[in-house]
Amino acid sequence: MKTTDQLSKRRKDFPSLARKLNGTPLAYLDGPAGSQVPRHVINAIGSYYKTSNANTCGAFPTSVDTDKMLEDARSAVATFLGATDNRTISFGANMTTLNFSLSKAIARALKKGDEIVITQLDHEANRGPWLALQDKKIVVNEVRLKPDGTLDYDDFEKKINKRTRLVAMGLASNALGTVNDVRRVGECTRAAGAWLLVDAVHFAPHFSIDVASLDVDFLLCSAYKFYGPHVGVLYSRKGLLDQLETDRLRVQDRNAPYRIETGTLNHAAIAGVKAAIEYLASIGQDKTLRSKLESAYKVIHNHEYKLVQEIFEGLKKIPRVTIYGPSFDTSLRAPTISFTIDGLMAKEVCEKLAAKGICAWDGNFYAVRAIEVLGLLEKGGVTRVGVLLYNTTEEVRRLVKEIQRIAGSGT
Ligand SMILES: Cc1ncc(COP(=O)(O)O)c(C=O)c1O
Repeated sequence: MKTTDQLSKRRKDFPSLARKLNGTPLAYLDGPAGSQVPRHVINAIGSYYKTSNANTCGAFPTSVDTDKMLEDARSAVATFLGATDNRTISFGANMTTLNFSLSKAIARALKKGDEIVITQLDHEANRGPWLALQDKKIVVNEVRLKPDGTLDYDDFEKKINKRTRLVAMGLASNALGTVNDVRRVGECTRAAGAWLLVDAVHFAPHFSIDVASLDVDFLLCSAYKFYGPHVGVLYSRKGLLDQLETDRLRVQDRNAPYRIETGTLNHAAIAGVKAAIEYLASIGQDKTLRSKLESAYKVIHNHEYKLVQEIFEGLKKIPRVTIYGPSFDTSLRAPTISFTIDGLMAKEVCEKLAAKGICAWDGNFYAVRAIEVLGLLEKGGVTRVGVLLYNTTEEVRRLVKEIQRIAGSGT
C-alpha cells in the first residue's frame, strides 16, 4: 500500500536518496550515524569554493566574504541552539576533538582530588576526554545505567557533591534513544557549584535545543547528524571559555569563541552548517529563524515519531527479537531503536538487511559502556535503526518485513 508521509515532498531535496540497489531504492535507516545531505547544503559548500575561498582576516574580497560567512554561520548556530550571543559558538573538526580540547582546558582549572561525573550511557566522546583526566589525579565517578535504558537519577544525587567540578552527560543516547532529564541533573549540579556539560549530538536532529532553558554551561553537537557536513560545534556559556586556558598558538585570537579554534577551520563545511540550519528552518512556518526552527522540529518530531512507533510495534511482535531502551509511551524519546535477534550476531542481521538495500548499523556505536553494562558486548552489540525527516512509511514497513523474514517469523 502506498502511503503519503507528511514530509515526503522533501525527499527530492536529497540527491543521495535516488541511489538504488538492484533496482530498489536504498532505505537509509542509518541516520543515527549521520544524515544524508540536502542540495541546499551541497550547493552552499560548492558555492563557497566557487566564489569566496580564502583564509580569514585579509583585506581582499574573498577573505572579507569568508569572515562574514563565518560570523553569519556562528549567528545561525547560536539561534539554532537558543543562544543570544555569537561569541558563545566555537567550531571544530567534530564533537570528539572539541571535547578533548575542552577537557584539556578544564583540567588546567582543576586540582588533585576534584571530581567529575560521567555516565554509563554516554558515547565515549563524552567519557574518554574526562576519564583521561584520571592521570592528573582527578576523580571520575560514573552514574549507573539501569536495565530499562534510563539513567539512575538517585545515583546522580549520590555522586554529585561539593568536590564535583563538572557533570558531563548526554541529552539523548545514540545507542538506546533515551532522552535524559538534563534539567533535573542541572539542579544538583548547580547546587554543588559545578559546571554542566551536555552532549547534544544525538538530540539535535530530532528536537529543538534551547541552551537558555536547559541552563547548561557547555553543549556540543555535530552538524553531520542534522543534515550538514562534518563540523563540530561547541556552545560555552558567555564568559566561561575566556576563563579557561585552552591549547593555542601565541598568534591566535585569545578571546572566545576563537581561543579553542586551533588552525584554519573548514570554511566550506561551515558554510554548509549555516545552510543546514536554513534548510531545517524552511520546513517550519513562522517569522524568525528561531521560531521557524521550533515549528520545523514539531513537524519533524510528528513524522519521525509516527514512523518509529510503527517499527517499535512491528518488532515487538516478532518472537526472537529483543528491543533495548525505553518504550515509546513517553513522547520524549529519540526515534532510534536497537535490538537483537536470538541466535544471530548484530553484524549478520545488518548484512542481511544490506543485501535488501536497507542501511542499518551494528555494534556499540562508541556507546561501548552502555552496551557492556547491558551484557551485549560479547554478542556483537545490537542492530540499530533510526529515522529522520526523509524516511517513509514504506521504508519502515520494508524493514519490519525483512526482520520478520530474518527472524523466521515472516512470510
Ligand atoms: C551521542 C554522540 N556523541 C558524540 C558523538 C561523536 O561525534 P563526532 O563524530 O562529531 O566526534 C557521536 C557520534 O556518533 C554521538 O552519537
